[in-house]
Amino acid sequence: MPKKEDNRMYRDLSWTWPIISPPEDYADEASQFIKAIEKHSKIPVKTLLNLGCGGGHNDFHLKKRFQVTGIDISKGMLNNARKLNPNVTYLTGDMRSARLRKKFDSVIIADAIMYMLSEKDMLAAFKTAYFHLKPGGIFCTYVEELPEKFARTTTTRELKRKDDMEITLIEHMWDPDTKDMTFELTFIYIITENQKAIVEVDRHTCGIFPLATWKKLIKEAGFTVRTSRSKDEGAEIFFICLKSEI
Ligand SMILES: C[S@@+](CC[C@H](N)C(=O)[O-])C[C@H]1O[C@@H](n2cnc3c(N)ncnc32)[C@H](O)[C@@H]1O
Repeated sequence: MPKKEDNRMYRDLSWTWPIISPPEDYADEASQFIKAIEKHSKIPVKTLLNLGCGGGHNDFHLKKRFQVTGIDISKGMLNNARKLNPNVTYLTGDMRSARLRKKFDSVIIADAIMYMLSEKDMLAAFKTAYFHLKPGGIFCTYVEELPEKFARTTTTRELKRKDDMEITLIEHMWDPDTKDMTFELTFIYIITENQKAIVEVDRHTCGIFPLATWKKLIKEAGFTVRTSRSKDEGAEIFFICLKSEI
């Protein structure tokens, strides 16, 4: 049962997304996707489906190269995405179950895959990617946190500004139970404007799976998979997943 403090970044606090994680910050990540797709795809790539597209900050860069369609579960994030990328098609949907009529040359899941909290959910998301690909199509994703490397508690702080508003964002990542497949991510926002400071708390539960589980589930969805060390800061392993041409 979701609590009042859960996932506020994608609900009542989604307006902060362009301030706390601006589109410019996604240039390197988007470029990693573009390079991998261009290098490894077996078919010419014109179309791309972004599952868990959020505020469209990756799409802001990807749309220069591909005809992008984005799916996200959050209406607030999709509103941000539509404002930023008016020519991109955005649809509300769940990456575990969305089924469009259209097939794509490429599919990506970026920093949304950590919301898959069980192997069943992860597999469902990979099957959604597989379902939407043309034969020979390519799916790329990456893992940010691996249990093998997870530091049990990490806290970071950032200050972001827009006009007269300042947002100090404290991010606290911890794993209360290292035996299960989840960890907790808590954000504290201190929003100052007009000589007032408002404090907001926002809690997220994220999935964390061993590398072997990722590979097993991607294969189970139907792909052949290749891994490489991620070139983007903050990500660990990048997955290049191919759907067979026949
Ligand atoms: C960190 S944001 C992604 C930001 C995005 N990369 C961007 O460019 O703005 C994570 C997103 O995952 C979405 N999400 C979480 N669970 C989802 C699900 N089951 N299906 C679709 N989207 C989901 C959230 O709504 C949120 O927008």
